[in-house]
Formats: sequence, structure tokens, C-alpha cells
Amino acid sequence: MNLNNSTVLITGGTSGIGLEFVKQLIQQNANIIITGRDLTKLDQAKRQFPQIHTFQSDVSNPKDIEKLYQNVTSQFPQLNIIINNAGIMRNMDLQDTSMSLEDITREIDTNLSGTIRMAHQFLPHLKTMKNAAIVNVSSGLAFVPLSISPVYCATKAGVHSYSQSLRLQLKNTSIKVFELAPPGTETPLMDEFTGIVDSNQNMKVDKMVSIAIKGILKDKLEIRPGLSNVLKIMSRVAPNFIANMLHQTTEKAKKKLN
Ligand SMILES: NC(=O)c1ccc[n+]([C@@H]2O[C@H](COP(=O)([O-])OP(=O)(O)OC[C@H]3O[C@@H](n4cnc5c(N)ncnc54)[C@H](OP(=O)(O)O)[C@@H]3O)[C@@H](O)[C@H]2O)c1
Repeated sequence: MNLNNSTVLITGGTSGIGLEFVKQLIQQNANIIITGRDLTKLDQAKRQFPQIHTFQSDVSNPKDIEKLYQNVTSQFPQLNIIINNAGIMRNMDLQDTSMSLEDITREIDTNLSGTIRMAHQFLPHLKTMKNAAIVNVSSGLAFVPLSISPVYCATKAGVHSYSQSLRLQLKNTSIKVFELAPPGTETPLMDEFTGIVDSNQNMKVDKMVSIAIKGILKDKLEIRPGLSNVLKIMSRVAPNFIANMLHQTTEKAKKKLN
């Protein structure tokens, strides 16, 4: 996949993996558009990279996606790549009865519905481009659940499955479907898990995104950096063993913290 001179829309481009994509894709000579909910973070990203274009847009809100599509495709008709990166991850006790029915599925609205709706909305436009791609950011936890983030892991397994179907359905089009499954990566997303998940295992964000871009350049459709590849193999060889091991490790760490 040629990235030179491409026009890339990154959801959640104001922090962590999305912001690092901005930096490294500029080095690939790409034009960048980013989204996020927080205007202050969008302004900060624009100050850091004045050549990018920013749009305030919430992927969990279908109306925002429709508006984003109108604005982006009219201002940037050369748009040829979208990176569905926006995501949230929470530490959640499923026996906590104080969580409302609305709140308990928030990760689904952003990580899974957001990804599916963005692809659905931008598909007709991308089909008109000669060299197009959809990059869905899942996770190593798409392959094995981490029990303290049950809904998050369900969304990432969903993004993995959806990406496989999308790739098959778009086989005879100009759109390539990539899935990037990052392992634990040093970003603000992991702050909630300090002391529970071993941060020494996390990959540096610049290294992770550099592997992702190399994968995209080489048309590697499922990119599984570092431990994500190990998790995929373990999910085939010993799925219950690895899920139990992750569960016990986080339970022990939680007890130590309390
Ligand atoms: N870090 C890891 O260890 C890791 C591992 C595997 C997969 N991932 C995945 O990688 C992706 C990026 O995560 P990250 O680690 O870079 O997290 P991050 O640093 O917390 O960044 C998340 C980005 O998404 C945006 N965002 C969140 N909800 C949004 C919404 N509803 N609409 C639009 N933008 C939204 C945030 O901006 P606003 O808050 O301003 O909206 C921010 O720009 C996520 O899909 C995550 O699940 C991360």
C-alpha cells in the first residue's frame, strides 16, 4: 500500500497511538485529518503539527459521523484511507450493580459501533479511489480476554471478526482492509491499569506504530506486533490456560493494591 501523498483520516488522533500515527504518517508524506471529542486536545495536536486538519467528532454518535463525512469528503475529496483508531477501555467489575444499563455498553458504542458506522459511511467514497484502505485498530485482547476489561475485550473480538468479513466482502474492490492488533502499548489508555497490568510488558508507542506502518506498506493485512502475535498463537494452542493465567495475574495485582 503506497502511503506517499495519501490523505488519511484518523479517528482519535489527539493522543497515544493516533497521535503517533500523525507523526509517522507525516514522515511518509501523507496529508492528515484527525478527529476527537475534546476540542482542547484537538487544538494541542494542531499546535504540534500545524499542517494537519482537525474535526471535533464523536464516533459513538451517528449524527457526528454523517456530519464528518459531509465536511471531510467536500473539503478533501482525495481522502483514500481511514484509520478507525478511537477507543476507550475501562476496568469493570461485572458484579457492580451501580453501573447503569446505558453505561455498561459504552465501549461497544465507541470501539465497535463507531468502527462499523465509520466504515459504512465512508465506503461509497473510498470505492471511488484507486488506492484505498480501511485500517481497523483492534487489540491483542481480541484473541484472549483480559477479565478486568470484559466489554472492551468483547468489542475488540468483534472488530477482529468484522474486519475479516469486511475484507472478504471488499475482495474485488480497490479497498484493502487492514487490522492492527496492538499489544499493551505505552499510552494514556493504560493509566487506569497502573499497578494491575505489568507496564514493563508494554511496547513503546513509536515502535508499535512503526511496525504498523511497515505492515501497511507491505500489505500485511493482519498486523500483530510483539505480544499480540503470542496471544493469537496461545488462543489456538491453549485458550483456557492463557485466559486463566491473565485473570489470575490481574486478580493478584488487584489484591496487592487494596
Ligand atoms: N494502548 C494500548 O495498550 C492499546 C492496546 C491495544 C489496542 N489499543 C487500541 O488503540 C486505540 C488507541 O488507543 P490509545 O492507547 O492510543 O488510547 P488514548 O491515548 O486514550 O487515545 C484515544 C483517542 O481516542 C479518542 N476517542 C475516545 N473516544 C472517542 C470517541 N467516542 N469519538 C472520537 N474519538 C474518541 C481520544 O480523544 P477524546 O477523548 O478527545 O475523544 C483519543 O484521541 C484504541 O482503539 C485502543 O483500544 C490500545
